[in-house]
Amino acid sequence: MSETTPTIYKGLVGVYADVSAVSKVMPETNSLTYRGYAVQDLCEQASFEEVAYLLWHGELPSQAQLKAFQQEERANRALSPALLRVLREFPKDAHPMDAIRTAVSFMGLEDPETADTSDAAQRRKAMRLLAKIPTAVAAANRLSKGQEPLAPDSALPYCENFFHMVFGKVPQPEVIKAFDVSMILYAEHTFNASTFTARTVTSTGADIHGAITAAIAALKGPLHGGANEAVMHMLKEIGGPDKAEEWIRGKFDHKALVMGFGHRVYKSGDSRVPTMTKYAEKMAEVVGDRRWMETSRVLAEIMLREKKIHPNLDFPAGPAYYLMGFDIPLFTPIFVCSRITGWAAHVFEQGADNRLIRPLSHYTGVAQRPVVPLAQRG
Ligand code: COA
Repeated sequence: MSETTPTIYKGLVGVYADVSAVSKVMPETNSLTYRGYAVQDLCEQASFEEVAYLLWHGELPSQAQLKAFQQEERANRALSPALLRVLREFPKDAHPMDAIRTAVSFMGLEDPETADTSDAAQRRKAMRLLAKIPTAVAAANRLSKGQEPLAPDSALPYCENFFHMVFGKVPQPEVIKAFDVSMILYAEHTFNASTFTARTVTSTGADIHGAITAAIAALKGPLHGGANEAVMHMLKEIGGPDKAEEWIRGKFDHKALVMGFGHRVYKSGDSRVPTMTKYAEKMAEVVGDRRWMETSRVLAEIMLREKKIHPNLDFPAGPAYYLMGFDIPLFTPIFVCSRITGWAAHVFEQGADNRLIRPLSHYTGVAQRPVVPLAQRG
């Protein structure tokens, strides 16, 4: 009996899997909105904490609401002694994405409300994750270099505190602003692979720590969040703008991917790139090193002219983080610190109107056949 082959949307290209009111990507106009606000406007007129509130509550906070949100975040930053002990046991060469994935899973073991998947409990747990993930990221980074973790400072706002925990000092306001902008730009992006993973786990009725652990695993891949690290490795391998053309021609000859370019949804430019590039340029000015931005410019020009492929957010974010002084393996964990906001917003949304996510596969294996007993198989 012959079966008709259903249409297969490999990689779920072009498939609408659900409705969502969190954010909207408009590839025709290269634009992105969070809860109706253009992301560029949020970068110029709001802070990451305001955007986190917006994603979770649907509206920008009043001053009083923001204050309460910030107080809650600051009160939840500390890691338990048990988690700190576990972080110390990780292999020194463990990738920080594996460290943070394991740390978040451990936070689920410790959280008093892990099993409570009511909306109110999910929101309280999301706040604890927002507050604790940067502490765990910074601690894992310092321990991997043989340094002692630095306790969070509840007198400092979110971004300043992160720099304090990584470097032991707070940089000048231009650096904080550029970091804050990157956090806003990384916060949310509709049904990307890691967000869809978080929604899939949530759809089974599993807890938010499980959903976020799985989302972190998905984000690590170089075709997703891992690209911001790959971009910086690439720029360092090239070495400078004068070597960029020869390097990229070598990639074209081998039909190799150039990291930080291309996007599944945006085909004529990523809405977030101009804003992030502007702030990466500012970092180059602050540091007094234009090498990476110049190299990037040459690559982007050739990719557009010859392949018609535009850069994505990871392309300017990689050198921006490098110029801020972060170790390259910390780039994708920083993305986690930001995207916990978008992931959690989707966990809340999925939970509020849930149906188990369970697609079909079209079978292409051998036809049904009888089992031959072991004795007869020789
Ligand atoms: N370098 C070189 N060629 C690329 C490319 C890149 N970064 N991105 C896409 N292409 C090529 C593809 O190989 C394909 O060529 P082909 O038609 O000869 O096979 C063509 O452009 C179209 O690719 P497309 O179908 O649009 O890609 P996709 O939607 O399946 O994949 C990405 C999107 C993001 C996975 C892909 O662009 C990629 O791997 N980019 C590099 C990793 C990266 O920066 N990821 C971060 C994403 S935010």
